Amino acid sequence: MKKRVGIEALAVAVPSRYVDIEDLARARGVDPAKFTAGLGAKEMAVTDPGEDTVSLAATAAARLIQQQGVDPSRIGMLVVGTETGIDHSKPVASHVQGLLKLPRTMRTYDTQHACYGGTAGLMAATEWIASGAGAGKVAIVVCSDIARYGLNTAGEPTQGGGAVALLVSEQPDLLALDVGLNGTCTMDVYDFWRPIGRREALVDGHYSINCYLEALSGAYRGWREKALEHGLVRWSGTLPGEQLARIAYHVPFCKMARKAHTQLRLCDLEDAVGPGPGTPEAREEVAKSAASYDAQVASSLGLNSRIGNVYTASLYLALAGLLHREGAQLASQRIGLLSYGSGCMAEFFSGVVGEKAAERMARADLDGVLARRERVSIEEYERLMKLPSDAPEAKAPAPGAFRLAEIRDHKRLYVEGG
Ligand code: CAA
Repeated sequence: MKKRVGIEALAVAVPSRYVDIEDLARARGVDPAKFTAGLGAKEMAVTDPGEDTVSLAATAAARLIQQQGVDPSRIGMLVVGTETGIDHSKPVASHVQGLLKLPRTMRTYDTQHACYGGTAGLMAATEWIASGAGAGKVAIVVCSDIARYGLNTAGEPTQGGGAVALLVSEQPDLLALDVGLNGTCTMDVYDFWRPIGRREALVDGHYSINCYLEALSGAYRGWREKALEHGLVRWSGTLPGEQLARIAYHVPFCKMARKAHTQLRLCDLEDAVGPGPGTPEAREEVAKSAASYDAQVASSLGLNSRIGNVYTASLYLALAGLLHREGAQLASQRIGLLSYGSGCMAEFFSGVVGEKAAERMARADLDGVLARRERVSIEEYERLMKLPSDAPEAKAPAPGAFRLAEIRDHKRLYVEGG
């Protein structure tokens, strides 16, 4: 029998502060409806230099091990997907290994391809286990990032930060992946990038949305071809995409998931055989179906709307939000996932939600994780944004959380909250 491999459990770490998105809109002289209805945001996570990619990754991984009772000696691989690493050479994964005192026998490394980096890690871990090379060990994949465009930029309301740690194993209690059926699409584009030495990303915002949608189309069609071949979906009265119980998308801002879903439906409507909406305008209208969006997508966006963009982790925040809310009713049902990284790369994949998803998600305590944050004013957010990245302010980390304490001789030193 083919091995069942996938995500056994997950944990989320978020910065200790956030701003209300309407406060930000008012401070920028923008109609708050643009950020709430236009972008789909409610709150935005705010980091300070002490909460960097390493501290968020280590906090999420430690939380995963503690909440889910993972035996560290069973971990054979630790991958960190990030596009906001802290060193050109030393990986975030090696910091996490040291801070958590994880086995020296593990394979550790970082993966980078903009927001796709976490999915690259997840697929490497999944295929490592499915191939048998893991020899019964489990893998931890951490997606950790801080999205930063800068004050008074168009991207400002789509910032955020955090980390999601995934436990990947042969006991996929959250999601058993359909290994080998992924669809991929890559293109050489400058839609979003961050030249070496820059703290803030550069982005061609509207072009980046078009790149996302074009890459999604290629990746989804690639998955659909294989899914049709394997009988996972079929051309029938309902579109192939509608045969997935839910679809979690990469969420740079929540409204993007709605645009992505419309595009996915357009792919099905354009390729469908038999009678359907005849003109491009009619297809566009059907693709926009609010009912389909409400049924298949809306329930995944609870965390994203309160945290903002977390680059590599955004798709996995959508998965976490979805299973947090609907883990019990989705048990045994197939869902789709779309990962997108600028530059660019998209991957569409699917999996079946596990029977123990609700129980595993309850241990992740996501309501508690969000409730422990502090709301700050726009003045305080702006002050934090202007702090130099190499001089963290003294602040005790919360129990179980890590924080950058200082940089000495170009070496980063972290402390753990007791
Ligand atoms: N009330 C309600 N809605 C309003 C409104 C109001 N008063 N004013 C404007 N809106 C709507 C607009 O109609 C628009 O909606 P549609 O897209 O559905 O038409 C929406 O609010 C946004 O308005 P604009 O397009 O005018 O906003 P903008 O030009 O200021 O910036 C943005 C939007 C391009 C997304 C910008 O925030 C940005 O550059 N963000 C970063 C880039 C990004 O996230 N790209 C996504 C794809 S790339 C990717 O996915 C990788 C990644 O993680 C970065």
